[in-house]
Amino acid sequence: MIPELACVSPDMNGRERFLRAIELKPVDRTPVWVMRQAGRYLPEYRAMKAVYGFRGMVTQPDVASGVTMQPILRFPSLDAAILFSDILVIPEAMGMEYSFREQGGIEMAWKYAVENDLKRLNPVGINERLGYVLQAAQKVKRRLGGERALLGFGGSPWTLATYMVEGGSSRDFATIREMANRAPAVLEGLLERLTEATVSYFRALVGAGVDAIQIFDSWGSACPEGRYEEWSLRWIREIIAGVGQAVPVILFSKGMSAHRDAWKTTGASAFSLDASVPLREWAEADAERTYAVQGNLDPEWLNGDPAVVVEETRKVLGSGGLLPGHIFNLGHGILPEARIECMEAMLETVVG
Ligand code: CP3
Repeated sequence: MIPELACVSPDMNGRERFLRAIELKPVDRTPVWVMRQAGRYLPEYRAMKAVYGFRGMVTQPDVASGVTMQPILRFPSLDAAILFSDILVIPEAMGMEYSFREQGGIEMAWKYAVENDLKRLNPVGINERLGYVLQAAQKVKRRLGGERALLGFGGSPWTLATYMVEGGSSRDFATIREMANRAPAVLEGLLERLTEATVSYFRALVGAGVDAIQIFDSWGSACPEGRYEEWSLRWIREIIAGVGQAVPVILFSKGMSAHRDAWKTTGASAFSLDASVPLREWAEADAERTYAVQGNLDPEWLNGDPAVVVEETRKVLGSGGLLPGHIFNLGHGILPEARIECMEAMLETVVG
């Protein structure tokens, strides 16, 4: 027997498969989960949202844990559950509420504009105010029974700051980019405070039982040219150091895979790639790779023909056998238009 395969347990469960892959250890198959796997494409999600509304789902631990479990119950081959919540619970718990715009997108209750606004953002006691998330995590942890991994998540300070400075979803990020240029200390004050709050929140999530944490740096590519390190990575590195070795951290910094060397300095255990990158080539280009790679099927394929999904999923997996340290996922969150048959076709192809 090949010695390496001897240590692959025949009854490896999803949690073990996921955690082993993050450490680049041998696995029986590529583990898989999907960003936004509990979402509008699921009829059972839409039914819950019709009763409780988005905020009601997030803030009631019984409902949040039930929604987290929906994709797990429907698609048993998923190896990980991601806690149903939002990155915007942090600004909210610090004193800036969020809501949804009628035409789509996020609206924040006020805008962070001057240093004095820091007085309105309180990181102290944040975990008490986010007790509902921690309770939901504990409930999901019990329901998963160690069979599947549980992921917690949060936004990068820069990505959260885009919402807080722009006053919600933005197209051009003009306000925050101008703040970065004209009043860097004002922006730094906000990023520092968000970093502090996030470290404390992530530690509490670890205490509640999450097996890994994903940081969403969804708008990393909106940093002013040449300032990605200064405005985004620096704070992510501080957060990962704050989590320590407690659990592995996955970094999703959309559109920024060209910054591999900079990514490697953050201490993240895995990088989640968007669909623009050829995943296997990207992974194999680093001969000394010690981090896992996650991704990266284009979510749009799931809106179309299941036969095409099978083909495209095979392309992501590659023809060279199991890629060590690969966690299959989409390149970004699943879309509301995704078809259940396509999700099934993708999962069947990964599971083999
Ligand atoms: O992955 C999961 O299943 C966990 C749940 C999750 C949600 N939001 C639930 C949600 C996660 C990981 C997030 C992260 C998040 N939230 C990000 C980063 C991820 C990314 O896609 O890059 C961002 C930027 C947000 C902020 C946010 N929340 C936006 C931009 C929106 C969409 C607003 C709109 O126009 O619909 C939300 C709402 C939201 N958060 C939904 C879900 C399932 C959709 C709510 C609905 O209409 O049902």
